[in-house]
Parts: sequence; structure tokens; C-alpha cells
Amino acid sequence: MKLFIVGNGAREHIITEALKTSPSQPRLFAYMSTANPGIQALVEDWTQGAMDDIQAIKRYAEYIRPEMVVFGSEAPLAVGAVDALNEIGVSCVGPVKRLARIEADKAFMRDFMRRYIRRGFPRWEVFDDVKSVESYLHGNPNVVLKPIGLTGGKGVRVMGRQLAGINDAIEYAQEVITEQGRILVEEKLDGEEFSLMVFTDGKEIIPMPLVQDYKYAKEGNTGAMTGGMGSYSQADHRLPFISEDDFDSALSIVSDTIRQLGQTEGTPYRGILYGQFIQTENGPKIVEFNGRFGDPEAMNVLSIMDSDLVEIFRSIAEGTLVDKVEFKHKATVCKYLVPKGYPNTSEAEKPFQFPWQDLSKKGIKVYFASVREENGSLFTTRSRSLALLQTAPTAQQAKDTLNEILNHYCPPELVYRADVPLLEK
Ligand code: GLY
Repeated sequence: MKLFIVGNGAREHIITEALKTSPSQPRLFAYMSTANPGIQALVEDWTQGAMDDIQAIKRYAEYIRPEMVVFGSEAPLAVGAVDALNEIGVSCVGPVKRLARIEADKAFMRDFMRRYIRRGFPRWEVFDDVKSVESYLHGNPNVVLKPIGLTGGKGVRVMGRQLAGINDAIEYAQEVITEQGRILVEEKLDGEEFSLMVFTDGKEIIPMPLVQDYKYAKEGNTGAMTGGMGSYSQADHRLPFISEDDFDSALSIVSDTIRQLGQTEGTPYRGILYGQFIQTENGPKIVEFNGRFGDPEAMNVLSIMDSDLVEIFRSIAEGTLVDKVEFKHKATVCKYLVPKGYPNTSEAEKPFQFPWQDLSKKGIKVYFASVREENGSLFTTRSRSLALLQTAPTAQQAKDTLNEILNHYCPPELVYRADVPLLEK
């Protein structure tokens, strides 16, 4: 079987690795915007192109003639790459454009939830002029501001964190409205965040272990919002602050969304749906939906998956999702190493050394994210550099092992959050 993967981060690195170890031994190919050395080492052939260039993705599919294309990243889903490949008879793991709006268009997502799901969301409004934002903020200062479109997780501004007060919020709203025409203003929710990802063919829905991602750049959950600085999962596949009722409630929101999307849009949702929740005192509420694996969350779940990912993807694409996916009962911790200054003033193009081969021999998994390799040296870009993943009986043990390693080996050009995950002792 020939498969190609679209995307080039640590998430796509672990997806490719999981596919590579499948008993069906697929022939693997990749479409990447920057060459990921980890993925390059696992595939037969790869090509370089922009993530939102549908024609280039289609041309590569016509050249490779894969049975299936797997989308790691959101940008090609948002522009309709799945629709284009389906038109030429290629099956895909990932939603078609209309359904990908659940991630790519936050106004669509909130309106959809208000109309059809009717629970599990904060108060929200969409504005297209800054005067209206200003008068809304005077009555509702406790807000989160979000651009409507994709921002790689970096566009969200939270009152009391990145926004010092109403003036900051108005300034940011003006910036977003000028660039994009609209802004989403949501009630700020208090509580712990968690990620619930599911495999689905539009009918069957199989949840993965819960994961908590840490999005703030700096220790103690301070600083700018990032794509994610690290994440953890527990051996029981739950999180300490989520009861079974909360889990059922979150899963029912995700499941109803999948089924309702299929009904209203007239085509089944096939791929991964990732609900990013906040656990409030009134139960779980959706912060965002994503039409793909989380990054770093993909590392937490795929590293302990015992089922064959090729079989899961094939059954998703064919609409006959396998009935069971097995995960080991192990805790996992993932930590990202990022360039100094990430995300706003990243020191890009810095060469660095990292003994990933030696660490791999010690059982630490190292996944390449946004790094460039030249003549055997790795270089930073503006985005995250490397993800380290450790499994252990408990998250505390996995965290301690990674911190010991990083304390010793983290190169001076990169930084990480030693406090991730924040665990109760
Ligand atoms: N972990 C955040 C994201 O993948 O969007």
C-alpha cells in the first residue's frame, strides 16, 4: 500500500513512524513545506510545497498514485485539499473543506454549536467594527479575543494574561479587524484545559486517551500563547481533574458534533476530531475544535498505541472504522525545545547540536519539528524545534526523566519548560 503524509512537524514525524511500524509495511511518501529530517529518514520519496497549495498536493498525488493521503496539518484541510484528492479518486484521512470549517472558521464553529449542540460553549459574539467591541468590553471585560481563521494557536489573547486591560483588547481587536474584517470575542472561562481526540469515519467514534497541553511559553503558565510547549497523559487515560461524568459529557459533545456535521453538511466527517476543552465548574466547555491530531498531543497518544495505524486510517477512509483501538496503560510526557524568544521573537537560523541518536538509544524518543538540517548540523527556525517524549508508569516519573536529560543536554540556543506538566505532588 502507498500512503503519503501531508505536513512536516513533530506530529507528522510520529504519525510517519507509527505507519512505518505497521505490519502491512506501507510504502511511505511525504509532502512537506520544510524538509523534516526525521520524516525524510522514514519515507521513500518526499516533495516540498506550501501547505495550502492544493494543486501541488494534487500533482504529487498524481505522481505517487497513493491509495490514501493522511493530513497532519490543518492548513491544507482548510483550503479543500481533501475535496481535490477525492475528485481524482484518492481516499483521505481528514475532513473535506466544508467540515474543516469546524477548525478553520471559528464563527462557523460557534454558530454551529449554538444551533445544533446547544451546550458546552462560552458566551460569544463576532464583531466587524471596533466601536462595537469597545462598548461590549465595557459591559463584559472578562474576555478572550480570537481571530476567526487559523493562527497556529498563536492568535488567542486572554484578558489578564496577554491583555493587561480594555485598552490592550481594543488595540488587538483593531489589529485583527483591520487584517481579517472580523473578530470573535468570547467569555473567559476558568478551569483546567484538556484535549479529547477521537478517530471517526462519521459513524463510529473511538476516543483516544485524554491529554493536557501547556500552551503558555513560560514557566507557571505565563507569557505568550504558543503552539504548545508540552503535554502529558496518565496511565488510566484520564486526567486527575476529570470525572467519568465529565469525560462522558465531553465525548458526547464531540460525538454529537461529528454526527450533526455529517447531517447538516451532507457528507461524513472522516479523520480525527480534536475537542479542546476547559473544565469549568459547570462541566467541560469547548474552547476550539481541530480537524487533526493535536501537536504535541499526537506524541502522547501514538507513542502508547498498540493498534495498527494503517488499518485505522484505511478503515476511516473507507467508512468502516475498526471497532477497537488499544492503548498501553502508561503515562506519557512530551516536552518541546524551542528557539530562544519563541513565539514572538524567535532566534531563527541558529545552528545547534543535540545528541538525538544517543538519547534514542537510552529510550527517549526525539521527534523533529521545525528544524533545518544542513551538512549534518541542525538549525532553528521561527517555530518549535524538537519534541522529546518519555513514557513511564507515572507522569511524574516521565517528567523527572526528561528534566534530567534536558538539564544536561538542552543546547544553549533552545529553551524548554521544566515545570511541564504541573502535577499535584
Ligand atoms: N495542541 C494544540 C494544537 O494542536 O492546536
